[in-house]
Amino acid sequence: MTRWIRLFAVALLAVPMSARAQGGLAQDPIVAYRVEVMKSLGTQAAALGAIMQKKVPFDQNIALHAEAISLGAREALKAFEPKQPGGASRPELWDHWADVSARFKALDAAAADIAKQAKAGPVDPKTLLAALTCKSCHDLYRIR
Ligand code: HEC
Repeated sequence: MTRWIRLFAVALLAVPMSARAQGGLAQDPIVAYRVEVMKSLGTQAAALGAIMQKKVPFDQNIALHAEAISLGAREALKAFEPKQPGGASRPELWDHWADVSARFKALDAAAADIAKQAKAGPVDPKTLLAALTCKSCHDLYRIR
């Protein structure tokens, strides 16, 4: 087996393993999918955070991470649409769907705006933090 094929196999294996880590093999695929989408938001936000905190010198990637968050918010909107309780979602999330969808749309728009700003010049960390409304939604609709 060449090195490339081995790497590819490892990459494929990583998918079911991360889903398994989230709550067992029997987890519903709809729930597992939305967890993957949310994890990708977490990854992009963490990478962006490392840049904003000047831990790494990748300022030119700020716009890309912000775009990824914008896309992820759109993916999340779709991923949460089916009323499929489970994971760390509070079941009442779907009773407040208008609010939840408005929050994902606001995150999409705010992140897209950050991407635009980043292409034009430096981004104020405060503006960025204000755009990332992750915690306020988690406080309302996430169990842990
Ligand atoms: C509109 C509400 C909402 C917004 C906005 C939101 N989240 Fe979430 N997030 C949730 C909910 C609900 C869950 C639980 C999903 C589940 O397990 O069913 C979650 C789960 C997560 C998880 C856990 C995934 C795992 O490993 O189980 C991460 C990480 C995460 N969100 C990151 C983010 C980040 C970063 C942002 C902002 C850029 C964000 N979220 C914005 C509602 C939201």
